[in-house]
Amino acid sequence: MTVSVVPSQSVSLPQLEIAGGRRLSGEVRVSGAKNSALVLMAACLLTDDALRLRNVPPLTDIAAMGDILAALGVTVRRGDDSIDLQADRLNQTSAPYDLVNSLRASFFCIGPLLARTGIARVPLPGGCQIGTRPVVEHVKGLKALGAQVTIEHGVVSAVVPGRGHRLRGGHIHLDCPSVGATETLMMAAALADGETVITNAAQEPEVTDLARLLIAMGARIRGAGTPSITIVGVSRLHGADNAVIPDRIEAGTFLLAAAITRSTLRVAPLVPEHLGAVLTKLEQAGCRLDSDGLGMTIRADRIQAVDLRTQPFPGFPTDLQAPFMSLLATAEGNSVITENIFENRLQHVAELQRMGASIRMQGNIAFIEGVHRLSGAPVQGSDLRASAAMVVAGLAADGITTVQGLSYLDRGYADFEGKLNSIGASIRRTGG
Ligand code: EPZ
Repeated sequence: MTVSVVPSQSVSLPQLEIAGGRRLSGEVRVSGAKNSALVLMAACLLTDDALRLRNVPPLTDIAAMGDILAALGVTVRRGDDSIDLQADRLNQTSAPYDLVNSLRASFFCIGPLLARTGIARVPLPGGCQIGTRPVVEHVKGLKALGAQVTIEHGVVSAVVPGRGHRLRGGHIHLDCPSVGATETLMMAAALADGETVITNAAQEPEVTDLARLLIAMGARIRGAGTPSITIVGVSRLHGADNAVIPDRIEAGTFLLAAAITRSTLRVAPLVPEHLGAVLTKLEQAGCRLDSDGLGMTIRADRIQAVDLRTQPFPGFPTDLQAPFMSLLATAEGNSVITENIFENRLQHVAELQRMGASIRMQGNIAFIEGVHRLSGAPVQGSDLRASAAMVVAGLAADGITTVQGLSYLDRGYADFEGKLNSIGASIRRTGG
């Protein structure tokens, strides 16, 4: 008698059931960038005028950020793909603890609140599955702008002493090119008295998108997208109406879905400059990529092994490391992936191994020996991008893959299974 122990997955939890082995085709639409929209929403705190953001993705993280801003007294009105915000009646300078715990990005409120009111109390954002996520650079930078900052009982309290409670410009050198710190400090400096220079700044497209919005609101910023950003503070900012850039990580995930299923697919909108390192690696792996100005068509038949190392922009983005690993698990030959950004962002290796991937780990390095075919299995996503990587792997696996961890997935991908089914996938959401 054989007893097979199948890893049990609690069927009550929501999961995606993916029937693998199907080719994709046609065109898939990319939503607005989550990692831009969240920080652009926080920028509404810098003015009492109305701020309209368009091309805002319908994600749980966006709704959570809206709740946090509303708790501070901001008027929040959600449209189909836009959001109207007005912080003309702020009644709080403390972000609510329970809400903050649900969304790390709420820490984006501290810079604008401090710049606008001279005081801010925001709970310390916790760590998460992928790392401890410190905010040391944010705090050091705010102090360099004249704030007194203390951290007690898990709350970061910042105050600007002296008359007028106005931050003053200064030079900030970041020990690491933190995206969040660069964005927090750009917003704080926008209303400071004098000039601020941020060196070793993050260069991600989302930083540039924030600078674009702040300039539309009347800020004086130059150098965004380079390692050195100069902000000349102004006394007040006005409202604006801006569209959020396309989500380069969602776009990259769809390109990888096409590559792993050896399909031809158009992904739009897609800004090639936002994904340079990823497009280079896809071409090295054997994909053909044609940009048409608004979108990009990928053609994939045979996939070769490639090595990649995650780096700050313009290097290979850590957010596409897991989905790219799913692709390389089915490539011809051996690949090496090094995760340099987060200390614990290789948890998806164990899940891919459950699907038959041949991967050996050594610290932050994964050695991948491509296999001809993955096999469908019950797997779990441990963070937003690992969940997406499991779906990508399931598209090409033999048989049925069930993916749990949808609370992560729904934070960063709007209607992921709906979009994939519209281009030929066979995915069903069950349970929950
Ligand atoms: C942003 O997080 C993104 N989130 C992340 O996307 C993305 O992975 C990350 O940038 C890197 O590109 C949003 O924009 C909302 P960091 P952020 O500060 O700002 C270390 C996703 O899946 N560090 O650039 O928190 C830190 O520990 C999410 O969409 C310090 O050491 O990232 C990490 O190792 C995940 N000290 C590295 O820098 C600090 O003070 C990058 O962090 C701050 C950060």
